[in-house]
Amino acid sequence: MTSVPARLPVDATTTTAWGSLTELSKNLQPDLRGWFAKDPARAGRMSHQAADLHVDLSKNLLDDEVLASLLALAEEVGLAERRDAMFAGEHINVTEDRAVLHTALRRPSDEPLTVDGQDVTADVQDELAKVYAFAEKVRSGEWTGVTGEPVRTIVNIGIGGSDLGPVMAYEALEPYVQDGLEVRFVSNIDPTDVAQKTADLDPTTTLFIVASKTFGTLETLTNARLARDWLWRSLVAAGAIEDSEEGRADAVAKHFVAVSTALDKVEAFGIDPENAFGFWDWVGGRYSVDSAIGTSLAVAIGPDAFAELLAGFHAMDEHFRTEPFESNVPVLMGLLNVWYVNFRDAHTHAVLPYAQQLHRFPAYLQQLTMESNGKSVRWDGTPVTSDTGEVFWGEPGTNGQHAFYQLIHQGTRVIPADFIAVANPAYPLTDAVGDGGAVAAGADVHGLFLANFFAQTKALAFGKTADEVRAEGVAEDLVSAKVFSGNRPTTSILAPALTPSVLGQLVALYEHITFVQGVVWGIDSFDQWGVELGKKLALEIAPAVAGDEAALRAQDPSTAALIAKYRELRG
Ligand code: F6P
Repeated sequence: MTSVPARLPVDATTTTAWGSLTELSKNLQPDLRGWFAKDPARAGRMSHQAADLHVDLSKNLLDDEVLASLLALAEEVGLAERRDAMFAGEHINVTEDRAVLHTALRRPSDEPLTVDGQDVTADVQDELAKVYAFAEKVRSGEWTGVTGEPVRTIVNIGIGGSDLGPVMAYEALEPYVQDGLEVRFVSNIDPTDVAQKTADLDPTTTLFIVASKTFGTLETLTNARLARDWLWRSLVAAGAIEDSEEGRADAVAKHFVAVSTALDKVEAFGIDPENAFGFWDWVGGRYSVDSAIGTSLAVAIGPDAFAELLAGFHAMDEHFRTEPFESNVPVLMGLLNVWYVNFRDAHTHAVLPYAQQLHRFPAYLQQLTMESNGKSVRWDGTPVTSDTGEVFWGEPGTNGQHAFYQLIHQGTRVIPADFIAVANPAYPLTDAVGDGGAVAAGADVHGLFLANFFAQTKALAFGKTADEVRAEGVAEDLVSAKVFSGNRPTTSILAPALTPSVLGQLVALYEHITFVQGVVWGIDSFDQWGVELGKKLALEIAPAVAGDEAALRAQDPSTAALIAKYRELRG
């Protein structure tokens, strides 16, 4: 299990399926109007259930031949074998020689899994029990600060995967948050972030969670020091602690906990390892929201809801692991993404949640997808043979409709888009008065909201022809501007409600979509070497910014001039 798999990536471009897809794409005349007219069963045939998610793929630009070739491609690149290797704990993260086992984080406690000689399930359950016990202590008020006050605000300090998952899930599950508890998230090294997030806080009721897999991330450690300083200063000012070493140590012990795989570094920072929660190098940062990195979330929503979240992840894992590819939603969505990137020239992919609570989901997915699949070499170090990772982006509907949908409807590029909605909103409101027209008195506002979802996916698919525009009496010189080409691909995802389980299912769905694309492209979706150079250079440049003339002279002319300008402006 520990060795690097000998198998080299299959070059997808040399497969028979790739050749077929190339031919099919050349000849494909997308015609969603015609396809639905000829085949009214299309929506039913191309809709699938994955756990609680109903996923309609029928408004995508594919016919049966394309679908068959995409499925053949999955076979030819060995997708099933690689998926099974991941679940089994093989070191498929080749460049870091690590297993990739985020799926073990949500494995039921009675399903042991031994990897590299460790009972991974038991380790996960032990750590979860620690997180849950801590969460209960904070929620019940048993955990108190230096003055004996319970915690009211938790500040999670982390960045990337140590921030985006917890903040996205906290926002998504806001109705599940215990009354009287609030979580804030500090991530940016811009000092504004920590300053604003602490400005109105009472230090006696504030608990910081420093979340960092490596506990070596500049942003997080700097923010943790700033927060610790703030805590000391404000507790001393409030007369809550003595301005002494003991006073400060007591403050850290009662107001700081940590989450990391590097518990020695946690201790060096001054946090008692007893107040630290661990995880393992086989959990990638962007795959870690369901590990102890989710501690802030577990405190906010409680162990039961967190366990439900994990069960949702697991339900999607099981779907991905066992469902035949023809109805396996992550496989189909991953293959469709490959189709669009490699055969239909898509450069980006929009994710458009019609659920305000999912407003950070696109940002979360940006790290998941782009840090995973933004690669130019394959897992054996050879260059990729096709384009890889598309740009993921999005905003919640309906806000996006009034901002960037114009480009999706009438721009020159194909932008596949995932529309995501839940049937039952957390806040069902009715419009008592209505507008006397289309919006009836007593209208269910969520129904109006979803009417937009259905309208947009319909407009994108079927468009509006010049004749239809003319039939509305539009002057001939304006007709072309008002034509909608249609044939703009969308996937519709509907869930009953935004429960913890459904959120887990959604996240796992996109984790596995990302995996599928990575396997086709032959890349290691679990390393992230591309973020390293900038980190190193920032440390090298910092002295120049701080005034070191020799360091300034060592920079290239553009960078040196910019730093000089910054210093001049800074005054
Ligand atoms: O710089 C990228 C990255 O390594 C991400 O992959 C990771 O999620 C983030 O930084 C934060 O890292 P850490 O949790 O170790 O502080």
